[in-house]
Amino acid sequence: MLSNANSLLTFENLESNVRSYSRSFPVVFRTAEGAILEDEDGREFVDFLSGAGTLNYGHNDPDLLNDAIKYLDSGGIVHGLDMATSAKREFIERFDEIILRPRGLTYKFQFPGPTGANAVEAALKLARKVTGRPGIISFTNGFHGVSLGALAVTGNRYYRGAAGLPLTGAVFMPYDGYWGADKDTSDCLDRVLGDASSGVDLPAAIITETVQGEGGINPATKDWLRAIERLCKKYGVLLIVDDIQTGCGRTGSFFSFEFADLAPDIVLLSKSLSGCGLPLSLLLLKPELDVWRPGEHNGTFRGNNLALVTATAALQKYWTNEKLSDHVAEAGRIMGERLRQITERSRDHSLSARGRGMMLGLDCNTGKLAEKIVSKAFQDGLVVERCGAEDEVIKLLPPLTIDKQALHRGLDILDTSVHANA
Ligand SMILES: Cc1ncc(COP(=O)(O)O)c(C=O)c1O
Repeated sequence: MLSNANSLLTFENLESNVRSYSRSFPVVFRTAEGAILEDEDGREFVDFLSGAGTLNYGHNDPDLLNDAIKYLDSGGIVHGLDMATSAKREFIERFDEIILRPRGLTYKFQFPGPTGANAVEAALKLARKVTGRPGIISFTNGFHGVSLGALAVTGNRYYRGAAGLPLTGAVFMPYDGYWGADKDTSDCLDRVLGDASSGVDLPAAIITETVQGEGGINPATKDWLRAIERLCKKYGVLLIVDDIQTGCGRTGSFFSFEFADLAPDIVLLSKSLSGCGLPLSLLLLKPELDVWRPGEHNGTFRGNNLALVTATAALQKYWTNEKLSDHVAEAGRIMGERLRQITERSRDHSLSARGRGMMLGLDCNTGKLAEKIVSKAFQDGLVVERCGAEDEVIKLLPPLTIDKQALHRGLDILDTSVHANA
């Protein structure tokens, strides 16, 4: 029989045009371990995409998979709507003990449907229900998902255009740095909220990322985040931190807002929460906000029990000591230094790097240049994606657990590609 290894024909013929990553990385992937993906021809790729931030602990962490296999072998509940299960109790208790209490945080847990957008939808609904106000303030370049509620608080015109109906209920304000580093955009927000004639009604909530991921790797400063929290308190508005891409250690600490010492009213987690790519989503809400009536917000796949098992294993393996955070600090420093060298060596002196922890971006100014760089990098064995309003930023999100050898291997490939193109 003729081998059709790496053939994309089935996907081209039968999968919808909506597919995207299989166009950027046109091979058929078969296996993966840690930071390395392998295709059907046995070619290896260093993974700086990590499932768009879903594989912070790398592909197929053997300890997490082992717990999943043991759980399945023992006849553990896989699906149970939102019934009480041993796996869910274990997760809630361990999360409270390992993550919340040491940080002085008190939250109730809500398990929405398993995607990030499900968590965003639930948070927006809850904020509206608690405050009785319909409006939400979101920020320029913010990305919160593509279901209609989440899309209404997402800035990108390309995604918004696919909605097919007016997206309402949100007002966009300038994110930190939108008008350059020397302009504090929180002043603008204060002015608008304090002015009864600004045309902006007092919202139910402000939703923000602490580092905008899809929007171009835009890290907000500590001062700006604190100012936003202060404004929320001043005007009686809820603060929702969308930690879906930035959480679970991506910026070094478990929550990305720890460096700014925030205590958001609602925190959203998904992506890397299960630790191994299984769908799982979580809202953490201040207890006094829990005004839901039973089943008022629901979903068939709330609380994926197998994912809760691996999520508990990930907490125990990675968050009971400082090793992972220390590694993120060190690997992030290496990435920052290598990116600095890459930009200095490039002939196009306008390239620049930014980010926090192991969430870094190489701004190429044009989508065309960024595309050339990532496409050559892919040919040379690196999977890395683009982000930003014009897809002009190369987004580096290696697994947090990547070893130095694989990290340098990926960065070497990127270096060569930048050098060949800019
Ligand atoms: C910050 C942020 N919020 C929400 C989402 C939506 O998550 P999902 O794609 O799982 O719906 C994403 C996805 O990239 C994200 O980066």
